[in-house]
Order: sequence, then structure tokens, then C-alpha cells
Amino acid sequence: MVNNNLSKLVKDKQIIAIICNQFGDTGKGKFVDYFASHWADVIARGTGGNNAGHTIVVNGKEKIFHLLPSGITQDSKGKINILGNGMAIDIKTLCEELEELEKENLTYNNLMISNQAHVIMPWHISQDRAKNMSQKNGGIGSTGRGIGPCYADKIARRGIKISNLFDKEILEYKINKIKQFYPEQNIDFRQILSELSPHIKKIKPFVKNTILEIHKLKEQGKKICIEGAQGLFLSVEHGTYPYVTSSDPSISGTASGVGLNPQNIDLTLGIIKFPFMTRVGAGPFPTELGGKKSEDYCAEGLEHDENYEIKTYIGDENKKEKIVELMNSSDEFTQGVGIRLAAGEYGATTKRPRRTGWTDAVLARYARKINGPHFILTKVDSLAHAKKFGICYKYKTNGDIVEYESDLKTLNQITPEIKYYEGYSDISNIRDFNDLPLGLKQAIQDFEDFTSGKVEIISVGADREETIVR
Ligand code: IMO
Ligand code: MG
Repeated sequence: MVNNNLSKLVKDKQIIAIICNQFGDTGKGKFVDYFASHWADVIARGTGGNNAGHTIVVNGKEKIFHLLPSGITQDSKGKINILGNGMAIDIKTLCEELEELEKENLTYNNLMISNQAHVIMPWHISQDRAKNMSQKNGGIGSTGRGIGPCYADKIARRGIKISNLFDKEILEYKINKIKQFYPEQNIDFRQILSELSPHIKKIKPFVKNTILEIHKLKEQGKKICIEGAQGLFLSVEHGTYPYVTSSDPSISGTASGVGLNPQNIDLTLGIIKFPFMTRVGAGPFPTELGGKKSEDYCAEGLEHDENYEIKTYIGDENKKEKIVELMNSSDEFTQGVGIRLAAGEYGATTKRPRRTGWTDAVLARYARKINGPHFILTKVDSLAHAKKFGICYKYKTNGDIVEYESDLKTLNQITPEIKYYEGYSDISNIRDFNDLPLGLKQAIQDFEDFTSGKVEIISVGADREETIVR
């Protein structure tokens, strides 16, 4: 334990959850890695699949995992990583990630895969790509990984579980029965089996009843870190439906997805990107800088990726100076581009540009109701040298609205009211909350007052130790 404040925060805690209180991509990976290396014995993921993309920095090298929990790099220290029952697992991708580890000489001996998780099958991926992926063709801008169709089969009681993969007869029966629901696809059991066989063989030693296992570990007194995926406002229960993912990444959904009682969780840390936030894919985003123009521009996806933006907005000029100039532009769309470039906000899974806007405290106040009052603020350093920044505490329509509602019509009519604060310079070397610049401290204070929440941790850089624990 390196940090006194961290010792205080985790004192007497056995189970801690790290989840996202916005639209995903808030730095869960960094903090799961942080708790995995300083504290936890077990790291367990409970929702989603390879729609997630968790970036963590190890020895200065960036690693992106889509399925494996971010604690996997700690396997050689005996830490146990679990893919929980609530997940949708693409076993081909899983095997590719295991091979990545092998290439880096990293072990995964203590990995556990739930026998109850659902399997993303080839027809899920084809359907997702055809119907949900392209925003230009009316899709919600899904990641195209087959997540929605896989969960749809699960809810319709016809899905294929990991345990089914080890019984050829059941698998053949289920696949033949499922065909009728995908008439446009050519589903052939033999072909699917031959494609999946090597992956089934590779994962077999790690497949367990992880619900029984996690309770055993809990009874042994092991410290457990639950790793969230996606974010509260992408939740099928709480998010901006239908612009959501198909699982419930709230604390209750995540606990259920690893087989734990939510009351067993001693501390839930909900992440808020601050003082800017992002959304990737379609759907309401009240504080988006540049509004509809930004949404349409980002919907073009890879046409407006990082290379395009560097070429178009920076060209031959000094990169750092030009980015600051963009962030300080009087045009909001341009400010949004500047923040995207400054913070490197391009999809870890799809490389799409993420839509950028000011942090929305109205959303955070709702998140506090569902996920509890403890917050982590991330990416705070990214806005260094911007002259000012804003936080939204109120929506305006005909009257003022200060509470989030998932109703699309309401969300599409509101205009956010932004309170502006004085910007700050580089903060990445600060390790004590009191040393943070005034404007930032004021904004954090206002944010806590408005949400009745408590900011426990602030991230001031991508590296594990660039972290302030209060
Ligand atoms: P992590 O864990 C950000 C978004 C997609 C799309 C919607 C539905 O990295 O924070 P899906 O493929 O799940 O059916 O897509 O949800 N989405 C995410 N956005 N971060 C994620 O995960 C996401 N996972 C899904 O962009 O809008
Ligand atoms: Mg991500």
C-alpha cells in the first residue's frame, strides 16, 4: 500500500466496484488496474462483452483489452480474474486476447470464465453489423460486436451459454432451433462447430461455476474488485433508451453479473470524466459542444478519425499549441474538436471520434441515486491550458429541469445551462487535493454540493500513479 489516503479509503473494505457514471470510456481500466495492483486479490467483470475497450498503461506501454478484466496483467502475482455470468462472450476474440498475453510473456493461469455467460455467435455479429452499426443507415451506432442480438437471444430464452459449448448434442439442437429466427442467414452447425472447436478447446480449462467460486473467495476473505463495463447512461434500464447497450451496467446489474448481492459491495466508485465528457455512437448528449453538427460529424465514424483530425485541424503547426488554440476557440464545435484531440478521445474498440461536451452534473446527480455517492473524477489533466471550462447544473425547456429523465422526447428538447470556471495549466504532478488550481477546486466543490456526492479520487494523468486520493 503506497498511499495513506488510499489505505484510509479501503480500510475494512472487502469488495469494491469501479463503474462508469456516464456513457462509457471514463477510465475504468486505469482504476481497476490501480486497485488490482495496490489492493485486490480478485478482479471480476459482470456485464457486456467486447464492445468494451479498456486502455491501461503498463510500464509505459498502452494495452487495450475488450474482454479480459484489466487485472489480467497481475496474474503472475496470483490474482484471479473472472469473466462473470452476466457477460456476452465472443470466444474467438477471447482466444485472440489470450494469445496477445502469450506474446507479451504474460500468464493467465488464474483466469475463470463463467459457464453461465452467453456466447456471441457468428449470426449475432452479422445481424448487429447489418442492422445496428451504421448511424448513417439508421442504426444506433453499435460497436458491431454482436452484443445486442446475443442478449436478445438470451432474453428470448434461446441463447447459447458457455456450458452448452461442451455438449455437442445440445449445441446442435440449439443451433438448429435458432435458425428460424435468422432466416436471412445461412447457419450451418457443422461449419460453426469447425470454426469454434479450437477456441472451445482453448477456454475449457478455465470454465467454472464462477458464482460458487466468487462466494468461496469471499468467504476466504479475498479482496474483490468488480470491474464495470460501459456506463450508467448506456444501461438498458437507466440509459437514453433505445440508444443504449443491451445490458445493465449499473451497480446492481454489475453485481448480478458476477453473482454477488449488491449489499455485499462495501464501496462503489462511480467514474465521472471531468470537466468534459464524451459519448460514442448515436443518442442524446445534452452538453455536446457543437450540438447536432458534432453529432453528425462524429457519426461519419472512421472518416473523421484521429489521423483525419490531425491533418485537418493541426496540419504542420506545433501540435500542442494548436490544440490549445482549438480548445480556446469561440466556436463550440471547434472547442469540441480541440478537447477530442487534447484528450485522445477516439474509440478504443472502433477508433470512431467520440462526441465531446462539458460534464453534466444533472446526469451525475441521477447516477448518484442509482450507483451511490462516491465518485472518481478522470481525465482532469486533459483540459490543461484551456482558458475556461464549463459544468452543466440545469437543463432548460419551457421551464427549468434539474433532474434527468430517460425520455427521448424530453432529452431532445432541452438546452443545458452551463456555469463556467477559470481554466488551469498542467496538473499532472499534483498529488494533494489542496494543491489543485482554484477554478478546478471550486468546480469540484459545486459538483459535490449539487450531487450530494463525494469525490474520493482524481486522476491527473494516464499513468497508474498519476492519481490523487483525497
Ligand atoms: P467501455 O466499457 C462507450 C455504445 C456504442 C453504442 C451503444 C450500443 O469501453 O466504456 P453495443 O455494441 O453495446 O450494442 O452498442 O453503446 N457502447 C460504448 N460506448 N464505451 C463502451 O464500453 C461502450 N460499449 C457500448 O457506441 O452507442
Ligand atoms: Mg472504452
